[in-house]
Amino acid sequence: MGAPTLFTHTNPTTTTPFLSQPIEVCVGSLHNIPLGEGRAYRVGSETIAVFRQRNGKVFAIQNECPHRGGPLSEGILGAGSVICPFHAWKVNVETGECVSDPCTLRTYPVRLDGESIYLKVEA
Ligand code: FES
Repeated sequence: MGAPTLFTHTNPTTTTPFLSQPIEVCVGSLHNIPLGEGRAYRVGSETIAVFRQRNGKVFAIQNECPHRGGPLSEGILGAGSVICPFHAWKVNVETGECVSDPCTLRTYPVRLDGESIYLKVEA
């Protein structure tokens, strides 16, 4: 099963070119992500991995591994990092920094409202 696709609202009266600006998108409930695991969500043209650490903190990074595109949401989460399921590169889920190699992934601010998870993404 692929990542669920979310639709964002756009203003139909806008006639000027769309400027890139951050918007908040609700990707669903915390209950959809077991503690210590991640899930992938499709937001516009991006697939975002959302991780729920065992301490309750939630972080979001790009889902595609910079090595060869492995799905980081399916990796093993522990000690603030995820290990890619393909070739075991390690990425810090809070900063997006690769531990195994000099690279940085996109990160997305997360806001929790009760059980709902909101991500801030570029529109
Ligand atoms: S694709 Fe992630 S480590 Fe190779």
